[in-house]
Amino acid sequence: MDRARALTPGCDEVLHLNHAGASLLPQPVLDAMIGHLQLEARTGGYEAAEDAAPALQRTYGALAELLGAAPDQIALLDSASRAWDMAVYSLPIEPRDRVLIGRAEYGSNAISLLQLQRRTGCQLVLVEDDEHGQLDLEALERALTVDEAALVSLVHVPTQSGLVNPAAEVGRLCREAGVLFVLDACQSAGQLPLDVTELGCGILTGNGRKFLRGPRGTGFLYVHPELIGRIEPAMLDLHAARWTSPDEYEIREDAGRFEMWERDAAAQIGLGVAVDHALGWGIDAIAERNTALASGLRARLAEIPGVTVRDRGEQLCAITTFTVDGMDPEDLRTRLRAEGTNVSVTTLDSAQLDLSNRGLESLVRASVHYVTTDDELDRFADQLRRLSSGGAPAS
Ligand SMILES: Cc1ncc(COP(=O)(O)O)c(C=O)c1O
Repeated sequence: MDRARALTPGCDEVLHLNHAGASLLPQPVLDAMIGHLQLEARTGGYEAAEDAAPALQRTYGALAELLGAAPDQIALLDSASRAWDMAVYSLPIEPRDRVLIGRAEYGSNAISLLQLQRRTGCQLVLVEDDEHGQLDLEALERALTVDEAALVSLVHVPTQSGLVNPAAEVGRLCREAGVLFVLDACQSAGQLPLDVTELGCGILTGNGRKFLRGPRGTGFLYVHPELIGRIEPAMLDLHAARWTSPDEYEIREDAGRFEMWERDAAAQIGLGVAVDHALGWGIDAIAERNTALASGLRARLAEIPGVTVRDRGEQLCAITTFTVDGMDPEDLRTRLRAEGTNVSVTTLDSAQLDLSNRGLESLVRASVHYVTTDDELDRFADQLRRLSSGGAPAS
């Protein structure tokens, strides 16, 4: 862990508890990106991409390794939302098709589904949570047997909670019912092991900047090999398809059909280095350390008067959420920022279905990662105790 911190310049600057927002870049990622930008400046952007082709190709390979997939089943996009949209807007959804979603559904996905509902007349069916606050598997099983569904959309780890949804069980139920399973792994990639075969998903999406510790402006899409050829992308360009004669084109056979030709090569190379960095530490080891750190944080928070930990679920992860009596989360975030501590705030508009159900408008989210130390958690708890009791900053 000392080595991980030594490789993370931001650790000397801030007490970063916002890895679920955007993590701190490791030095090798920074070096790879800056190196590529310098190459672009010296040799030209196209020529740099040509010279860096193996590094760019490695990004597909590294993501494939992370997910237990093959490189040609991976598409690179500029965010998790774009990756999700490219797949879901391309599905042949028809009037009255049933689309099953959970309460953890993320704002951008929900907005896209509402637009698809307006455009196609499909029905959005909410599958309730169980008593632990995670997707109710029995309710899902019932919903899958009532009538045929077009797809199930699940957020593995929601933006607004430490919850880990039972994705592999959802995948098993979808497989048994022959229904497409779309998994948003944006908050789980890099902090939890992901294997698309075990998860049973047809589509999986994520981004680089969160627990994978990659650059901003990167996202990725996995599509099951049997689905790639059956999903015609909603949009095409001359990378996704080949213009074969003045009035004909041929769509690519691999997941590149969901990509665009133009790309931020430095960022995509950085993403590959970030994934290799995570694989180097080992995702199982990261998950184990993060779970212990986050439960240590929840234990500290529970001892502070006025603080209520809001995480629910049988399995919890590196995200911790809480509210403080009489304190606006955004105000608290700003005050912590002024003291060099980064947390984030999740509001109703990114998690309507869950937060409204719990009577909450917003939450403070403190997310640890393997570079976090117990000493940092003690300092954070001290800051919180002081700020929540109206104290002045320590000199
Ligand atoms: C669960 C979840 N899904 C999707 C996204 C969207 O990611 P992006 O901003 O890369 O589109 C986020 C971002 O916070 C998220 O938390």
